[in-house]
Amino acid sequence: MQLTKQKILLGITGGIAAYKTPDLVRKLTALGAQVRCVMSASATEFVSPLALQAVSGNPVGDDLLDRNAEAAMGHIELAKWADKVLIAPTTANFMAKLTHGLADDLLSTLCLATSAPIYIAPAMNQQMWHAPATQSNLSLLIQRGVKVLGPAPGEQACGDVGLGRMLEPVDIANMLAQSPIDPILANRHIVITAGPTREEIDPVRFISNHSSGKMGYALAQAALALGANVTLISGPVNLSPPIGVKVINVVSAEQMHQAVMKVVPDCEIFIGCAAVADYKPQQKTQQKIKKSDSELTLTFTRNPDILSDVAHLAQPPFTVGFAAETQDVAHYAQDKLKRKKLDMIAANDVSQAGLGFNSEQNALNVYWNNGGKNLGVADKSQLALTLMTLVAQRYAQKTT
Ligand code: PMT
Repeated sequence: MQLTKQKILLGITGGIAAYKTPDLVRKLTALGAQVRCVMSASATEFVSPLALQAVSGNPVGDDLLDRNAEAAMGHIELAKWADKVLIAPTTANFMAKLTHGLADDLLSTLCLATSAPIYIAPAMNQQMWHAPATQSNLSLLIQRGVKVLGPAPGEQACGDVGLGRMLEPVDIANMLAQSPIDPILANRHIVITAGPTREEIDPVRFISNHSSGKMGYALAQAALALGANVTLISGPVNLSPPIGVKVINVVSAEQMHQAVMKVVPDCEIFIGCAAVADYKPQQKTQQKIKKSDSELTLTFTRNPDILSDVAHLAQPPFTVGFAAETQDVAHYAQDKLKRKKLDMIAANDVSQAGLGFNSEQNALNVYWNNGGKNLGVADKSQLALTLMTLVAQRYAQKTT
């Protein structure tokens, strides 16, 4: 993943996430990009133009009517200079300006005057993100080809929790390096399962597991960034799916199996990241089980193995499984690879605190027939991009 010699015009608008932009400039330049920064007036309240000038090595623009700047590199020239325009963070206000074609400051004028692809990394309060006006602006921008990176869920500066955090600089830089220059999964349909399943015991109880869906949703986001058409079959989670992904919501393993088998004949790559319950109660009682003095024994029966059924189809897609293990990780993962007839398996040691289930980070070891790769520890979004790139490479090797 490189941005060698690419000219990136980084627009910075006025949100708290602007304080991360000197780091973003460093991440972009580390990938080989040349960066010039343009700030909105309010962005200068959050981060100093001098800091951005120091890290980018270029003068920073913040005024459309600056005679000195215009004499050096005029705004139209700057708009033509850019190979890519990245606006990070993008406020709700700037999204509205971009949607409606306003040109009342240097950055909005550059966006109208450029023919380069525009990327936005939205960052705002979660309520502002979900507001009908913002969502309608977002749809229009996507229709016009603007690439949307994020936002991420999580705790916000105002104390709210939800969607609206700017993606981390490293993820933005990697996504920019991947797409659209190298849409290695363009015209490929990828089906991904994510999250837990719930197996009902009675009308009020179920068994499930700690999967949050973060790993699977990050894979969907990464596949999208690499140009794929993505179908995400998701168990019950508290995440908003990436925009542009087709989502099928399910609850039980049986429902996930049905949904997968319906769409999988139409895909080239299948990735089973969901933590599917191996067993379900033999009988779901129609009424709530009442407490009594005696012990309660439940009998469980096997659920279908979705991954194995996909890999054993007469014409299977390139099939990638996950292995969540607490001991002998490599041994069990390689055994699953062979037994389930998979093309690849990504193994995670879920006994380690802070990794695996319901965490922001993970560590993956990937295996295939006669090979493997340690992808190390990283944020799930970054790991997902690395894993998806590896999947694309191995898929290409298998099919050419
Ligand atoms: O969702 P997060 O909180 O982000 O956590 C991510 C994760 C830990 C859930 C993820 O990285 C992961 O390991 N997913 C697979 C979990 C799992 O069920 O592992 P397993 O070793 O039990 O299953 C092996 C494979 O068979 C998996 O690809 C699984 O999707 C699949 N399977 C399992 C049982 C079943 N009945 N059908 C299946 O398809």
